[in-house]
Amino acid sequence: MLHCDMTDQERDLYANLPPIDRKTVTAPGLRVAKQEGRKIVALTAYDASFARLLDEAGVDLVLVGDSLGNVIQGRSTTLPVSVDDIVYHTRAVAQGLQAALLVADMPFLSAATDERALHNAGRMLSEGGAAMVKLEGAGAMVDRVALLVANDIPVCGHLGLTPQSVHRLGGYKVQGRDEQARQQLLADAQLLADAGASALVLECVPTDLAAEVSAAIAIPTIGIGAGPHCDGQILVLQDLLGISAGRRPRFVKDFSEGRLPIRTALSAYVTAVREGSFPDAEHSYG
Ligand code: KIV
Repeated sequence: MLHCDMTDQERDLYANLPPIDRKTVTAPGLRVAKQEGRKIVALTAYDASFARLLDEAGVDLVLVGDSLGNVIQGRSTTLPVSVDDIVYHTRAVAQGLQAALLVADMPFLSAATDERALHNAGRMLSEGGAAMVKLEGAGAMVDRVALLVANDIPVCGHLGLTPQSVHRLGGYKVQGRDEQARQQLLADAQLLADAGASALVLECVPTDLAAEVSAAIAIPTIGIGAGPHCDGQILVLQDLLGISAGRRPRFVKDFSEGRLPIRTALSAYVTAVREGSFPDAEHSYG
């Protein structure tokens, strides 16, 4: 149909569609974005309807996070989330996406051995339709990353505050504050990049440490509570919309300002990350 033949109503409908030249985001494309200095916009989603809205708003990467334990299942930690839960929600989200890269979280202990890692990550791709999995931590996980990548499963690492380690860490606290922890995080980030990870989530680390990691490694960092110098940003969707239960962490900004329509809040987030105005100092840790 020619644009000029459209009624006003049809034109409105087309205005809400994603730009037709929007390319599918791929694992190698994330590294290209970093090289070209384009910020990566990421968000979590757990169902097809929201996935479609995120895709239309121009979000690059959609994560089916084990945060679904908190925001969907109402649990106080992410530890009870199962592989089946993630596969189920990943399959739903896949139905709503056209261009964004779909990443599925590997839940607690799902990569505890090589066999489990390969089997469970494989399910995320073959049953869920994900194009990448996310794995928390370093140590033994470095070899798991290499194993998955060798088996054609792209991986996103996750360092800093890793919520599956909440009991070892003694709570949900900012990580990498002392010199030893800073050096460890820098070394772990390099090891994960060398193992073949495609990207790295940095959660709740001081702004200057996240900047140092981002400058040191060739793969993009995606920050949450890690300041403005990461190569991309991610938030939990319910936090962005201001509808999560409980205390709001410092790094969360309610882009709906308690009342804006969902599409407006999503595009405010996409614009703010792309132009680098989010997170500001108020939403970062010094
Ligand atoms: O589970 C999740 O949603 C996450 C993000 C907060 C990065 O891991």
